[in-house]
Amino acid sequence: MNGDFSILFQPLTIGRGMRKLTLKNRMVMAPMVTCFADSHGEVTPRLVDYHVERAKGGVGAIVVEAMDIDDQMLFHRLGIFHDRFITELEYLTTRIKENGAAAIAQINQTGIRGNLPGPDDLSKAKIRGLIEAFGEAAGRVQRAGFDGVMIHGAHGYLISSFLSPLTNHRRDKYGGNREKRARLAVEVIQTVRSAVGGDFPIFFRMNGDDFLPGGITLEDALVTASCAEQAGADVISISGGVGIMAHDLSLGDNKSYYQMIMPMYMPRGCRVELAGRIKERIHIPLSVVGRINDPYLARDIIAGKNADLVDLGRQLLADPYFPQKIAEGRMEDICQCIACNYCHGKRMRAVKHVHCAINPVTGREGEFRSIKPSAEPRRVMVIGGGIAGLEAATWLAKRNHRVSLYEKSPQLGGQILLASLPPNKEEINTFAEHLIRQVKKLGVEIHLHQEASPEFVLQQKPDVVVVATGGRQIQPAFPIDSKMTCLPAWEVLLRGNGKLGEPVVVLGGGFAAAEISEYICEKGLARDLTIVEMREAIAFDLEPSFRQMLIERLQSFGVKMIPHFLIKEVTATKVIGENLKTRRSLKVEARTVVVALGTESVGFPVEGLKRAGIRVLVIGDAQEPRGIAEAVRDGFWAGTSFA
Ligand SMILES: Cc1cc2nc3c(=O)[nH]c(=O)nc-3n(C[C@H](O)[C@H](O)[C@H](O)COP(=O)(O)OP(=O)(O)OC[C@H]3O[C@@H](n4cnc5c(N)ncnc54)[C@H](O)[C@@H]3O)c2cc1C
Ligand SMILES: Cc1cc2nc3c(=O)[nH]c(=O)nc-3n(C[C@H](O)[C@H](O)[C@H](O)COP(=O)(O)O)c2cc1C
Ligand code: SF4
Repeated sequence: MNGDFSILFQPLTIGRGMRKLTLKNRMVMAPMVTCFADSHGEVTPRLVDYHVERAKGGVGAIVVEAMDIDDQMLFHRLGIFHDRFITELEYLTTRIKENGAAAIAQINQTGIRGNLPGPDDLSKAKIRGLIEAFGEAAGRVQRAGFDGVMIHGAHGYLISSFLSPLTNHRRDKYGGNREKRARLAVEVIQTVRSAVGGDFPIFFRMNGDDFLPGGITLEDALVTASCAEQAGADVISISGGVGIMAHDLSLGDNKSYYQMIMPMYMPRGCRVELAGRIKERIHIPLSVVGRINDPYLARDIIAGKNADLVDLGRQLLADPYFPQKIAEGRMEDICQCIACNYCHGKRMRAVKHVHCAINPVTGREGEFRSIKPSAEPRRVMVIGGGIAGLEAATWLAKRNHRVSLYEKSPQLGGQILLASLPPNKEEINTFAEHLIRQVKKLGVEIHLHQEASPEFVLQQKPDVVVVATGGRQIQPAFPIDSKMTCLPAWEVLLRGNGKLGEPVVVLGGGFAAAEISEYICEKGLARDLTIVEMREAIAFDLEPSFRQMLIERLQSFGVKMIPHFLIKEVTATKVIGENLKTRRSLKVEARTVVVALGTESVGFPVEGLKRAGIRVLVIGDAQEPRGIAEAVRDGFWAGTSFA
């Protein structure tokens, strides 16, 4: 791999006529709903700050998130259905542009995923009205100072639902064959074109594949892309997958959700091949999205002529300065998105705004500006070199405090070292590696093999101590016969090989237990495996897209999963319990049990330290076992909460 990235920084001219648009490089920020709009659909200072940060980071263009073309009043989504939105949007475009990026607006009607019935039940008059609304919205986009407009034709929303043979069974001019299913898209593009004039760039976002039985396939997409080009689109943006229907947040049978915002289980650049095939059919620029979090991959996509532009979604949530760092050759400073989907899944389930698990500044950019270096640097001891301790040490050192970090094991990273062992999770470790590079670069004093005790802390006389001692596995409260082979789940992960006596029963079915079960099956450590879990489902606590994929894979290995199973006792040959719903007693044969009952905090006595006048902050799993996002958030808080 050579280090020449110049192809990523070649300008690209889009559109026709006088006002064609030249992008300064080949990186575009993909549209991402943030829920930072106010409850009336207006731009807020928070949304502006968030975009300014990404523009400063060097991306060529920002596609501002899906804006509703009609009044659906979706939760904190941007509106573009009235002229009243123009004033604040104009401020947003000004700020994006003055910080160096082009501003594009995505316009959308959510269709069957929002407030409308499916395509079959829409009257021609209603369709005409919606097409007109797209045109009017595009006119407002142009008046608000955007450099271009993106029509959302992907992910199962209105236009996409017409393109799909699964949801469109019409027999009039809007349905029947591929060209007719593309008719709504064509009419929207034509109407938008007449609203914005001949030389305003129009991007058309579409699925290269729905990855849904009966849905849009590559063959359909090839026709749609050609139709969109002929109708007047200037750029085709390729995505894939269909999202959750508004009425079915549980995912139901939708096996396509994870194809839209791909979890770490899916390979980087997973849409590139698809995009390459579509690019061969068209004569206008094409962009592609999907797990592009690596400079080499981004560069090779352009160099390989699979696309003219790369769309970066979550990577710019994790690190807005990704483009600038590539330009400056600072690859070691890039914080790669680990595709954990905390940003999307959490918001989807809890209806909250966008966050990034590994970038605590995302969504708090304005607030972040007020964080200053300390005028009075303190001596800070950080105890524990897991994610929480590393994150705290990073921020403390950035703010000029004198930081020493103590880790009792030979390695930094804590539980992340285990979390990255189950199948397809190795990328999670890139985050720990990133933090380790940062603490070293910032001059944090690192002491490995050094267990810190309260007495040791008192001897060191620090001003502040950050307790980040993390978590350990919960021990079973039920009896286990000593003749049963009983292994802690973390030990199974660490030991990595060695057949387990079968049948194996995994005690506990949280996400880590489910991942460890997959690890056992994939490594061939056992084939006959059962997971027993007290709650109503296995991996109940996992983000929906992850859960869907993990459960599918467990099923493919033939893993048996028993929810509502309250474990009472483990004998020499059986796991005995009770079904919490039916109250019937249950027995499962076992030769090995793997204990995966969850995590508890590793305590650290702090009263003596407080009495000695030392400020104490307890963070991460040491505070309460949770996950990476919380460890990062706590670390950030510890690193920025005192002067
Ligand atoms: C198998 C597995 C999979 C997981 N997968 C995910 C996932 O996909 N997503 C997610 O969000 N979370 C996941 N987690 C949970 C996540 O890894 C943890 O919540 C997070 O890493 C906790 O970080 P921490 O820094 O608080 O604690 P830890 O990572 O536990 O770090 C604490 C550190 O402190 C050290 N230490 C303890 N006591 C002392 C002492 N007295 N002196 C010096 N050092 C000390 C320990 O050696 C350790 O290195 C997973 C966990 C496991 C085990
Ligand atoms: C929080 C979030 C919100 C999203 N909102 C939109 C949206 O408004 N419009 C859209 O076309 N895609 C949306 N997407 C999909 C992204 O544009 C992108 O296609 C997807 O995240 C995969 O790209 P990535 O791997 O680079 O993140 C969203 C994704 C995320 C994570
Ligand atoms: S929350 Fe996870 S998936 Fe989302 S941007 Fe951050 S690292 Fe990537």
